[in-house]
Amino acid sequence: MGGRRRLAASLLRFSPIQSQSHHVPWIRLHPGQCWAPYSSSSVSPSAQTQLPKPTPRPETPSTITINGKTYPTDAWFNVPSNVLASTNRRLHLQKDHPVSITRQILESVFPRPTFRYHNDFDPVVSTYENFDSLGFPPDHPGRSRSDTYYINRETLLRTHTSAHEAALFSASASDGYLISADVYRRDEVDRSHYPVFHQMEGARVWDRTKVPNGDIAAAVYADLARLPTHNVKVEDPNPPSHPERNPLQSAHHSPAEAEAIAAHLKRSLELMVVEIFTRAKAAAAKQDPNYVDEPLRVRWVEAYFPFTSPSWEMEVYYAGDWLEVLGCGVSKQELFINAGVPSQLGWAFGIGLDRIAMLLFQIPDIRLFWSRDERFLGQFAGVSDNLDLLKRFVPFSKYPACYKDVSFWLRATSAAGGNTGTANAHDFHENDVMEIIRNIAGDVVEDVRLTDQFTHPKTGRRSMCYRINYRSLEKTLTNAEANELHGRVIAALVDRLGVEIR
Ligand code: PHE
Repeated sequence: MGGRRRLAASLLRFSPIQSQSHHVPWIRLHPGQCWAPYSSSSVSPSAQTQLPKPTPRPETPSTITINGKTYPTDAWFNVPSNVLASTNRRLHLQKDHPVSITRQILESVFPRPTFRYHNDFDPVVSTYENFDSLGFPPDHPGRSRSDTYYINRETLLRTHTSAHEAALFSASASDGYLISADVYRRDEVDRSHYPVFHQMEGARVWDRTKVPNGDIAAAVYADLARLPTHNVKVEDPNPPSHPERNPLQSAHHSPAEAEAIAAHLKRSLELMVVEIFTRAKAAAAKQDPNYVDEPLRVRWVEAYFPFTSPSWEMEVYYAGDWLEVLGCGVSKQELFINAGVPSQLGWAFGIGLDRIAMLLFQIPDIRLFWSRDERFLGQFAGVSDNLDLLKRFVPFSKYPACYKDVSFWLRATSAAGGNTGTANAHDFHENDVMEIIRNIAGDVVEDVRLTDQFTHPKTGRRSMCYRINYRSLEKTLTNAEANELHGRVIAALVDRLGVEIR
């Protein structure tokens, strides 16, 4: 996999392409990462929008109940209460919620009955479904506890909707499907990252035994000819496959078959972004008479995913930046073989709904999706029933930011076994800092930035300084409230990571 290991985890995210080099969560590997996990599920969902109550020292509960099902925990458990509290929110199904409206718009491009919609799959899946069934190697960094929320070694909160691919291929109930669902990843804290977000997965398959004369390429091209066309400028400079960079599955597919599937995939997904951006522009033009309509530009970039080959990402030029909007490819034939349907083949894609909703509605902060504030939700009333009512979000007053710094030393030497719950320069993972802060300050933390780090020339100890921006979306924080939160954050960093405050 080498250099092409960048597993478009970032495609779910909102950062422009230029600034992504620091943000490639799937390629971080932190062996030995282990610290006392947070505790249980009993936080009321509304706690997310209020100032949090003091958090007692977390204990690992022996079982955890999610959406009515109880699971045993083990030493792998690492799901904090704020994340557990999100598992019943189902924003993608909440009428008039921007994430749900975005889902509806995308679904309109993939009509029934060719496509079947699956919108209520449970977020708890097996490690096998999330990784092994898709061909992730055993040492893939995406499996680490630094990146993924585990309930126990065998059970986790899905990190992507692809976790359901194998089951749907095996059920083989339709020629195509869409899955929309909440997905979970440990990550940094800022206005475009949240530990829970939403994806839509789509797939289209053809069956060798069912197409005329067994000619897949001809059948796929015939279906392609039935799709609408568009007049958006698409840059697609690479060959349909490349022996090293983006290989054809030559044991299973002829070049003509793979090319036909890729052409059908690309047109389908181009139509999807055309639909979204046409609606975004119409909303913008309605609200702003001076709006200047820039032509939409789309480009295809070679990519890597363990479960597709060849693979691509689509980028869209929007407001001065190339944005990565989705990942896709020709599904690996092993998936169909393992699913007991070896005569089928086709394509799959995955798209992050939150980042698309942020673009579509001009929503500046991902925390707003979780808000129950009528000043937010009320702006989208009626849109689910009439997508033409779509309007851009009008920000309500922004409350003042409150910046607080915390500087600390990591432990100098590596802890034996790496599981004493303390952080040293070897097993320190920034996601742990992010999560401790998020778990204590909830949605009152807007972003956390590393502002300084250095290694002491004599002692070799490493020092880090983070700047936390405490800012509620719903009220002005007093300095006393921010100090109280910050004090608890500092105490938790010391307690759970074993750092020494400077
Ligand atoms: N599951 C991938 C991700 O989350 C996206 C994807 C889906 C890529 C389907 C290819 C096919 O990054």
